[in-house]
Amino acid sequence: STDTQTPAPSSAEPEIRKGLAGVVVDRTAISKVNPDTNSLLYRGYPVQELAARCSFEEVAYLLWHGELPTPEQLAELERAERSQRALDPNVKAVIDSLPTTAHPMDVVRTALSVIGANDPTTEDSSRGSNLAKSVRLLAQIPAVVAYDQRRRRGEDLVPPRDDLDYSANFLHMTFGEVPAPVVVDAFRVSMVLYAEHSFNASTFTARVITSTLSDLYSAVVGAVGALKGPLHGGANEAVMHVFDEIGDASKAESWLDQALAEKRKIMGFGHRVYKHGDSRVPTMKAALDTLVAEYGRKDLADLYDRLEAAMTDRKNIQPNLDYPSGPAYHLMGFDTLTFTPLFVASRITGWTAHIMEQLESNALIRPLSLYDGPDERHL
Ligand code: ACO
Repeated sequence: STDTQTPAPSSAEPEIRKGLAGVVVDRTAISKVNPDTNSLLYRGYPVQELAARCSFEEVAYLLWHGELPTPEQLAELERAERSQRALDPNVKAVIDSLPTTAHPMDVVRTALSVIGANDPTTEDSSRGSNLAKSVRLLAQIPAVVAYDQRRRRGEDLVPPRDDLDYSANFLHMTFGEVPAPVVVDAFRVSMVLYAEHSFNASTFTARVITSTLSDLYSAVVGAVGALKGPLHGGANEAVMHVFDEIGDASKAESWLDQALAEKRKIMGFGHRVYKHGDSRVPTMKAALDTLVAEYGRKDLADLYDRLEAAMTDRKNIQPNLDYPSGPAYHLMGFDTLTFTPLFVASRITGWTAHIMEQLESNALIRPLSLYDGPDERHL
């Protein structure tokens, strides 16, 4: 360079990208989020098409293997999943030892840790072993979530039914009966929509842990911790608290103005990647509408619409998937505290797909930081 001037110290500083916003850390072939076209593809397929046409089991297979299953491959996955649905007695014993005041996300996190500690193949990180673990977790998480909600209500464990698909069985184990088909279908749609979303905070956590060559269960337990926060998966629970706080549609605008004046983040709105609306919302909103009609809860729909309209008017910030899924899970009969564990039950498919992809071309994830503490000093 011909520039002989000494650069100002600040220009020598590396650029800091707080929150890794806008940073591309790796490639992935699992899903593509395009905020410009407002689209989300799982292995190339638009998520709306998958939600309209596929079972959650088919979507799990697609995420893990890259292609939708043949009838034989689907039957094999279904056999494996159905045969592992019963709550492991070791896991049940640990859940029973936890207070019912524990957050259900803490219960799920603990249960996953117990499943890992009891698995003799935990240290085998071959693709075959990790696939088997992924199917096992797909089958076991509903048992954990369902039993935990039941024990909080003083109800007994409901054994699984292997004549039902994943979604119907999940609801059966939670409520002791299979609800109307529209309810099962809305639940299935939510599972498909929550399954995968590229390098979100919990998936990235799983990839960071995997990059140290730790085991799949450790990565998944870490991911649950990341998902719990209200800026991520915890928002579906938080949305319901907001609905409860507002109470009536007529109070939506005044509640929002007050909350914004207090600089509160409005749960269920905004997204790091989507700035013009979350691609998954219209599909989940349609499922919510079927539940509103089924249960005759126009009051809830009115509150939903008025808060969304007010948020658009005041801030022009759009809802994310947690906004329709929170009230949908409420109408299905889930306790509000159980909402984020339902997200776990679905996202386990995306997390495990990413864990296996990370291992295919691993590099330790270890970024740098800019030190701004005291200069060197001596005692
Ligand atoms: N309520 C009020 N203001 C908001 C919201 C919100 N929900 N979301 C964004 N904003 C505002 C911010 O205050 C900020 O305003 P400013 O520039 O005046 O300071 C601006 O919009 C940009 O927001 P950031 O927080 O910088 O955006 P970021 O990408 O870091 O955050 C996030 C995204 C965390 C999702 C944020 O929108 C939020 O906190 N939302 C509420 C929590 C939530 O719903 N999370 C679910 C995420 S989706 C999912 O997990 C399925």
